[in-house]
Amino acid sequence: MKKINVITIDGPSASGKGALARGIANSMGFNILDSGVLYRLYAYLSNMNKSSDEIATQIQKHAVFKKSKEKLSVIYKNNDVSSELRSEIIAKSASDHSSKKEVRDALFNIQRSFYNGNGLVADGRDMGTVVFKDAKLKIFLTASPKERAKRRYIELQNLGQEVNMPALIADIEKRDIKDSSRELSPLLPAEDAHIIDSSDMTLDEVFSFTENLIKKEFI
Ligand code: DC
Repeated sequence: MKKINVITIDGPSASGKGALARGIANSMGFNILDSGVLYRLYAYLSNMNKSSDEIATQIQKHAVFKKSKEKLSVIYKNNDVSSELRSEIIAKSASDHSSKKEVRDALFNIQRSFYNGNGLVADGRDMGTVVFKDAKLKIFLTASPKERAKRRYIELQNLGQEVNMPALIADIEKRDIKDSSRELSPLLPAEDAHIIDSSDMTLDEVFSFTENLIKKEFI
């Protein structure tokens, strides 16, 4: 298989995939795909009474994904919906929709279209196993549910959202089971993925570890 200039970062919710992906995109000058945000946007639009293909077309037509050094923003029909997409209600709905074949199929080409021949870093659940099987470097980033709940707590607090730690841990564990036991594209490391458990690592440590892998594959 011909390998393409893509780095995939898969792993469970709040494992630090997004921060790592942004760090790599900034240092390598790569484009970035946050595939979770596509599932979240799909969930946000799912009350439109349209088929999954029609919702995907709306996303292609009206959504703009903006990258700055610190964050990724999602603009839909000129409205910044980034904070709304981070809510736990949308997270749950995205998880429900993501187990449906028609939804995954409808979003497949959009995800693939983020690769335009230049470097891309793509984060999600099935980037290395399904969408970019041909990626040059695959990473599976994980951390314990407690550690991930702590990170998510801080993220939600910074967004000014109400949070309850025990409920957050329970939600994360429930979603993990659902995402990894579903029939389609379950959350699993690709055979050729490098597995990083970041429970006891800082983001800087994860970043340097990954940089060494990138040097081997890309430079
Ligand atoms: O990474 P996230 O929390 O933003 O993802 C939201 C939901 O979307 C999550 O429950 C799993 C789903 N998802 C998926 O099934 N496949 C992906 N490639 C990315 C996310």
